[in-house]
This record gives sequence, C-alpha cells and structure tokens, in this order.
Amino acid sequence: MIGRLNHVAIAVRNIAAASALYRDKLGAAVSQAVPQPEHGVTTVFVTLPNTKIELLEPLGENSPIAKFLERNPDGGIHHLCYEVEDIRAARDRLKREGARVLGDGEPKIGAHGKPVLFLHPKDFAGTLIELEQA
Ligand code: CO
Repeated sequence: MIGRLNHVAIAVRNIAAASALYRDKLGAAVSQAVPQPEHGVTTVFVTLPNTKIELLEPLGENSPIAKFLERNPDGGIHHLCYEVEDIRAARDRLKREGARVLGDGEPKIGAHGKPVLFLHPKDFAGTLIELEQA
C-alpha cells in the first residue's frame, strides 16, 4: 500500500542552525524557511536525490512538536512520511485493521499542499507515520 518515502522529518530547536548544518557541512540543497502557522511549525526542506528531509522548528504557543523537543532537547527524528495513492482508502483500510489515525481522521492539507494523515506511533513500532496522497 505505501509507496515512496516522501520525507524524514527532524524536529530542531534552531532551524537556521540546522539548515546551515545540512547546507554547509553536508553539502545539501536547502530551501528557505517557511513559517506554517496553521501547522505550528516553520519548515525547511532539504532535497536529496531519493527523498527529502523536513526540518521542523516550533512556531507559536501550541506547536505540535513542542513536547517532542522537551523530551528530546537536542532534536531528533520526528516522523516518516510515506506516499499513498488514495489517502482515504488507506485510512479506511488501516482503521479496519485497528490502527489509530490522529486527530479527527480527516486528511488535512500538509506542508506540501497535499492531503496528509498521521498514524499513532504506538501502532507502528514506535514511529509517528505521516501518509501523504501522492
Ligand atoms: Co511531514
């Protein structure tokens, strides 16, 4: 059901510092920082030949990554994003199999302008999974 690995998301305290690390030390192509107030994060995309790295910095009072950074003060891998062809069909199949979909279960428009859903990490080997409509 899942297809390509769309991105690996890394939560960071300082997105400028993390961007410089990827750009200058690792020699990667790094986007501008984009504030996404509706998602409570600022994002930078690092484009690699086979996938992307999404750097996330908390934005605003109720950022969904604030707690993660409290537990992981140095930052760390926050979620993996897999592409699916039909996000509603994928959701329905996963729910039938007992997986928990976060939020109200309706796909939201994610950082790339495509519908996304998140799956509970306790149901997926301790990994927060984002599904994105390909
Ligand atoms: Co993501």
